[in-house]
Amino acid sequence: MIYLDNAATSFPKPERVYKRIDEVLRTIGGNPGRSSHTMAIEAARVVFGAREAVASLIGVSDSGRIAFTKNATEAINIALKGLLKQGDHVITSAFEHNSVVKSLARLEAAGVEVTKVAPDDEGFLHLSDIEAAMRSNTKMVCLAHASNVFGAIQSLPEIGRVCRSRGVLFMVDGAQTIGAMPFDVTSTGVDILAATGHKALFGPQGTGFLYLAEGTEPLPLVDGGTGEAGSPQEMPERLESGTMNTPGIGGLGEGVRFLIDETVEKVREKEEGFVRALIKGLSSIKGVSIIGPRDASRRAALVSFNIEGKTPGEVGLRLDEDHGIMIRCGTHCAPDAHRCAATFPDGAARVSPGYFNTENEIEEFLKAVAAMAGR
Ligand code: ALA
Repeated sequence: MIYLDNAATSFPKPERVYKRIDEVLRTIGGNPGRSSHTMAIEAARVVFGAREAVASLIGVSDSGRIAFTKNATEAINIALKGLLKQGDHVITSAFEHNSVVKSLARLEAAGVEVTKVAPDDEGFLHLSDIEAAMRSNTKMVCLAHASNVFGAIQSLPEIGRVCRSRGVLFMVDGAQTIGAMPFDVTSTGVDILAATGHKALFGPQGTGFLYLAEGTEPLPLVDGGTGEAGSPQEMPERLESGTMNTPGIGGLGEGVRFLIDETVEKVREKEEGFVRALIKGLSSIKGVSIIGPRDASRRAALVSFNIEGKTPGEVGLRLDEDHGIMIRCGTHCAPDAHRCAATFPDGAARVSPGYFNTENEIEEFLKAVAAMAGR
């Protein structure tokens, strides 16, 4: 079996992540922030430790500005629906994931104005197009750091600087990049960051987080938690109502600590090498077309491609059944991105290596694609 679907969820996880989840579930077991006994206090420490680890990874000094969510989609929904109101204008890209697209469609129906900026052929946005879309009522710019279809890494600091100078909130969907490459909220000028825990951060599925700069306070999507109705609740608890996924968050914290120990730079170097080999290999196979930049250093660790005469579904099925290779095919919950790439409605096949893959596995994948393209 060769797993090359890390853009959907990373597999395997570091051994210490499995151990930590088992440990939290088996030996800690209390409900954080509820009871005041020893196990509940230990559980609160698990959550706090994970928050501190995430904060240190993304350059946040106050970990209380990070709320845990069940995934990036939930984080995106909280930020967009909790901050934008009738009459506000938001600028986004034309290649966003459905978590942004569908949230903004609902808000548009409620009177929020939305402008979608198109990328170039490789999937890059241009600052001049974003600046040209700004209006007096622009409240937010909301973009994926890297599209899960194109993989192109957007240049955040320059967009962040423009947002800052105009008093516009800068929100980033970091689902494909956080943990996979160095990232710092201060140098990028990001006010709001939504990320998943189960991809490059090596946590389990059902984990994600939302970072909010000081003073950015969305209304919660879900009410509950402790205290009286109407009494003010502080970050992060106000966005974390209900008993948390403590074992999952414990696992996420351990995944982040693994990453900090290994270093993000080392992870990036290895994955970039795989992407370079994939682009070179796929480009040399007759009948294969690639979506996104050819320069691996400007790409997240994913390559979407098509084989002439074959549907993406067929490519995925044959790789799985004939070669034991797992990738993701179709529109990747991002039909708009495939419209930009002119691959809608069938979409594409997408190969996404991770830190635990090997060069040999990449070669096996390329051999399998070449055999399929030649048939
Ligand atoms: N959005 C995830 C992906 O790109 C699940 O596969």
